[in-house]
Amino acid sequence: MIVLVGFMGAGKTTVGHLLAERLGLPFTDSDQVIEQRTGRPVRQIFAEDGEPAFRALEHQVIASLLDGPDLVLALGGGAPEHPGTRDRLATVQVVYLQVGYDQALARVGGDPDRPLLARPDLAATYQRRLSLYAGIATLTVSTDGRHPETVSQDILARLITEPAVGGRAPHRPSRP
Ligand code: S3P
Repeated sequence: MIVLVGFMGAGKTTVGHLLAERLGLPFTDSDQVIEQRTGRPVRQIFAEDGEPAFRALEHQVIASLLDGPDLVLALGGGAPEHPGTRDRLATVQVVYLQVGYDQALARVGGDPDRPLLARPDLAATYQRRLSLYAGIATLTVSTDGRHPETVSQDILARLITEPAVGGRAPHRPSRP
């Protein structure tokens, strides 16, 4: 199980697809599973039920995915806000994709499907989350100005060479 975390625009979905292909694992995005299970887009859940309800749902979905077969799993940028989700991530490989605030906004700014972008405290939210991401990461990779393919190759190389924190075994890519 390899989990990708990071702020919106870090490239979790793009890099996750590349990693999954290389590792021969399925790729899943927690937001997509939430949308499939509820039949509603994330922005509609935020608008109708509010963020706390979304976080509770997100936690349930992530916990059930972590209980299932091995995956490359990309989480929504706010998933580590939930303490229960952070606890569940303590036993798996967690790759933190770092992105600078300006670069994140340049990548996703104006996307109407990302309700958080409309928040007035977005910059403070970004700052606050940095330590959450760093606290759960077993591997941290910068994405600023880097192509997703380069980021993916960097992660693959480091999954093999760097021992995981807390005894979390790295997933080794199978040889072709
Ligand atoms: C959120 C990030 C989104 C999505 C939701 C809330 C956040 O996922 O889960 O809009 O709180 O940062 P991405 O990080 O994939 O954009």
